Amino acid sequence: MPRLDRAVNIADLRRMAGRRLPRPIFDYIDGGADDEVALANNAGAFGRYEILPDTLVDVSAIRTETRLFGQPAAWPLVLAPTGLTRMFHPDAEAAVARAAARHGLPYALSTMGTTRIEDWARNFAGPRVFQIYVFKDRGLTTEFVQRCKAAGVHGLALTVDTPVAGNRERDRRNGLSLPPRLTLSSLMSFALHPGWSLPALTGSKFDLANVSHRVDVLAGQSMSLFDYIGAQFDRSVTWKDVEWLAAEWGGPLSIKGVMTPEDARRAVASGASGVMLSNHGGRQLDTAPAPVDQIAGVRDALGDSVEIICDGGVRRGSDVVKALALGADGCSIGRPYLYGLAAGGEAGVDRALTLLRSEFELTMALMGVNDVERLERRHVRRSPLAG
Ligand code: FNR
Repeated sequence: MPRLDRAVNIADLRRMAGRRLPRPIFDYIDGGADDEVALANNAGAFGRYEILPDTLVDVSAIRTETRLFGQPAAWPLVLAPTGLTRMFHPDAEAAVARAAARHGLPYALSTMGTTRIEDWARNFAGPRVFQIYVFKDRGLTTEFVQRCKAAGVHGLALTVDTPVAGNRERDRRNGLSLPPRLTLSSLMSFALHPGWSLPALTGSKFDLANVSHRVDVLAGQSMSLFDYIGAQFDRSVTWKDVEWLAAEWGGPLSIKGVMTPEDARRAVASGASGVMLSNHGGRQLDTAPAPVDQIAGVRDALGDSVEIICDGGVRRGSDVVKALALGADGCSIGRPYLYGLAAGGEAGVDRALTLLRSEFELTMALMGVNDVERLERRHVRRSPLAG
């Protein structure tokens, strides 16, 4: 087990995860689509904003609490949905949930998660968000909505940037299959990582826990769970389906993958209560803009009452400060907590959240703002060096 206290930032946790995980698994987390331009830009774009501090403000106490998806959050951060979590650590979503609850943060379970909604909800006391898709089989989506209601899920995030899978070349080069197949080269790679538990690679551990029962329906057909899910992605989903889902659900609904003011307006007109500005962490459409660069335009289009979450590229607490100043209500993170999970299970996720939170508060103190409500657009500007 690496000494997690030696990680002083998210980049350190990423390095630890890289040492701990077999290469194909690390690349699955770390990589993006095509030339990974969007992936690099998501984080890089934060660096192109400067923070304009106020001085001589009493910052002896910093108020960070807010509300997201209609629920209280200790500070404006959400743990974004990530599929196949058990591939990164055997404790999977349970470890992430325990750390998120301890930090008072919302956590979104992925449809592609490896824990059943009901088990996750029972064990996760924090704000519960479920990430949903509109599948070809609308009955499957309706079933998810019913299960979420029964399990006390607070909000839904509808992912709309995956009509087809992105072109992840690292995965193709590594021959990564889902679930991983034990080929000679993958065995070599895994053998070089004694910290990695080989049994975790086989069989039911890779169950997509929330959809596997559906495949029983297909008994007799030669279709794997993963084939079944692949076949359920629907290229014909439109805003009409958002209207339908909003009516079925009736609670907080954020559209994850919106990128423009026009689409943000359509989301609200279709019944959504919020948008997650996102390019899926650079894993889908490459050269899509960085979410942080889209915040101000979307906020201007939507006014104050619609929730905007900036998803992707956050690697520092100061990134969250910048997003809030530009008009977001919060940010969400995927890889930062997954690096922590891979590096050290629950304690690693805890470390990632602790680091980001302390950077967030430190930045607020240094810039002379003692309340998240008081972050304003005047506190940030594009760096003159950014061009
Ligand atoms: C994801 N993401 C994702 N999104 C989603 O809606 N459903 C999913 O199942 C997954 N799965 C997934 C797996 C892995 C390994 C990663 C890294 C990401 C995208 C995720 O929710 C989020 O949009 C990005 O991770 C945000 O970018 P950062 O924080 O990773 O830079």
